[in-house]
Amino acid sequence: MQNVQGFSKDFLWGGAIAANQAEGAYDAGGKGLSTADMVPYFDKKDYVNLKELMHVTSDSIQKAMAHRSAEGYPKRYGIDFYHRFKEDIALFAELGLKVFRLSINWPRIFPNGDDLTPNEEGLRFYDEVFDELRKNNIEPLVTLSHYEMPMNLVLNYGGWAGREVIDHFVRYADTVMNRYKDKVKYWLTFNEINTTIIEPFTGGGIVEDRVENPMQASYQALHHQFVASSRVTKLAREINSEFKIGCMLARMIHYPATSKPEDVLQTQIDNQLNLLHTDVQVRGSYPPYMARYWAEHGVSVHMEPGDLDLLKQHTVDFISFSYYTSLVSAVNPEEYGVTGGNLYSTIRNPNLPRTEWGWQLDPIGLRVALKEMYDRYQLPLFVVENGLGARDTVEPDGSIQDDYRIDYFRQHIQQMKEAVMDGVDLMGYTSWGVIDIISASTSEMSKRYGFIYVDQDDHGKGTLDRYKKKSFGWYQKVIASNGEDLD
Ligand code: BG6
Repeated sequence: MQNVQGFSKDFLWGGAIAANQAEGAYDAGGKGLSTADMVPYFDKKDYVNLKELMHVTSDSIQKAMAHRSAEGYPKRYGIDFYHRFKEDIALFAELGLKVFRLSINWPRIFPNGDDLTPNEEGLRFYDEVFDELRKNNIEPLVTLSHYEMPMNLVLNYGGWAGREVIDHFVRYADTVMNRYKDKVKYWLTFNEINTTIIEPFTGGGIVEDRVENPMQASYQALHHQFVASSRVTKLAREINSEFKIGCMLARMIHYPATSKPEDVLQTQIDNQLNLLHTDVQVRGSYPPYMARYWAEHGVSVHMEPGDLDLLKQHTVDFISFSYYTSLVSAVNPEEYGVTGGNLYSTIRNPNLPRTEWGWQLDPIGLRVALKEMYDRYQLPLFVVENGLGARDTVEPDGSIQDDYRIDYFRQHIQQMKEAVMDGVDLMGYTSWGVIDIISASTSEMSKRYGFIYVDQDDHGKGTLDRYKKKSFGWYQKVIASNGEDLD
């Protein structure tokens, strides 16, 4: 029997960030504007309607494009990782990270997305980052697309709904995979690929008021991302046979609100709609349940000859996913109270505590998700996002006593370990975000995830100095003991 004792000895303990939430320097080094640069800060009182929070319109884009400063657009300034990455990587090394997940900011390499030659200054920046990681014995895990689509592709190609975007993405992937072929081994194509359906602008660069039928456009965009992903996987294997390519899903595990068969059926449908993405990227074909769903929703996805063969032939090596919370399904959801969640709101589960932002905390759900995905696919899994967004207080002595974060990680890592002992093949775990960064959904700084505190407020004010939180020492111990010491 394997792994009954816990994590394998080469388990990849790590941390994660995304370029658009950390780098800042939104217009430095020849970088073009991305979808993330369009999202302004506004004082959100309603943390339930996340879709609303991340939503942009033609009008808000026009305003953002004309706004030539980072002020009021927190993702444009991030935490200045662009200039401080050496200092940050030194802290990651001290923490003991074996792997660091980051994304390449697509418009840093191809400012307009459709440029024929890459921006050398952008390429050089990631050379330096990867070299610094290697110097510190940290393996990079690179996401090619983490909500950072060049705005030119949004405005002039219809985002991912435009077929030509596939070629532009493949050229970008080809460029960076060739450039970094000796520096990066692990690649993810699209972060939380299901975001394209849930929040079409963030995931697919689709401006909903510019299309007749947003659902149709979203599934078309998703199909193009599947095809792009397969083409990139094929290419990756030609560039370096040692590469490992993963897909990435926001795993939204649904529980039934009651044991009524109608609710159980609805739960199954909701779980299938989530697993559609991994079904395609792992099994290599659209699952049979989609045909009826599309027909009933007036969706007709155009596929070119050869697309389905590509999907079949170039499937991924491993499955990565984010896990923050479980969701609840009911056939009559309006009968229940709702709460916030990862990317969208959900029915309130009375059995679970919630964060200040309404996200329900469910460590056991992580074990359920791991077991269920391994049962379904029997491919190595990688948890590439999991973490607690919380408000931290700096004490007068400068310390940050984030015991709530330690509790959160302890419980999730414990459940992950149980899943490994249940037989799940788990490659690694990268906590989100290992250092405080700008929140994806609310653009706040005060919703903090890190083991490392960054002195900056919601309006970009602060020294940007980095401090170790209490959880830093705790995670350091977890890594050093390979997950044995969780006290
Ligand atoms: C995931 C995203 O959905 O959740 C991250 O991939 C994001 O980019 C994370 O930061 C946490 O969400 P938020 O909105 O709290 O930052």
